[in-house]
Amino acid sequence: MKGIVAFDSVYGNTKKVAEAIAEEIKAQGHEAVLLDLGLAMRTNVDGDFLLVGSPTRMKRMTSRTKKFLRKAKKNFAGKPMAAFDTIMAPPADPEKREAKKWTENGAGPKIRDLAEKKGMKVFPEVLRAEVIDIKGPLTLYALDDSRAFVQRFLESL
Ligand SMILES: Cc1cc2nc3c(=O)[nH]c(=O)nc-3n(C[C@H](O)[C@H](O)[C@H](O)COP(=O)(O)O)c2cc1C
Repeated sequence: MKGIVAFDSVYGNTKKVAEAIAEEIKAQGHEAVLLDLGLAMRTNVDGDFLLVGSPTRMKRMTSRTKKFLRKAKKNFAGKPMAAFDTIMAPPADPEKREAKKWTENGAGPKIRDLAEKKGMKVFPEVLRAEVIDIKGPLTLYALDDSRAFVQRFLESL
């Protein structure tokens, strides 16, 4: 099968997650095409399944991600889809825990909900890869977690 991994990334963290996802898709014997939405807005791509990811910024997905999802409806309605995002790791300090509200309903869940609205067959689980600082880097286990997530998604197909 052929999978499309579409992502947006400002500082490169979501890009690293997308690359790990594409590698794992290939490791599982499928074809994977990476689509950097910051380089080219190609909306005519087609495949058997789709993964879409964005950094969470101001609790939202990027506008490029939203635009892509709206157009992807044409080729991916009825097909399996999974969402991922990058978020700030919640602070360890319990007094700063209200910062969790920043991440709870961020880009990932919003991507999943929009894709569902567009008729895609969404994977209920959303991959939320954590970054340590506002610009990254990714936490130690983020890429391993990303690969494990893809394995679960592919098993569901
Ligand atoms: C302007 C701005 C707003 C952000 N808003 C959020 C947010 O609402 N929630 C959150 O968890 N992280 C937030 N972050 C941190 C981003 O999630 C982080 O920069 C991103 O994961 C990095 O991914 P990228 O390297 O692919 O751009 C914000 C970062 C910036 C620069």
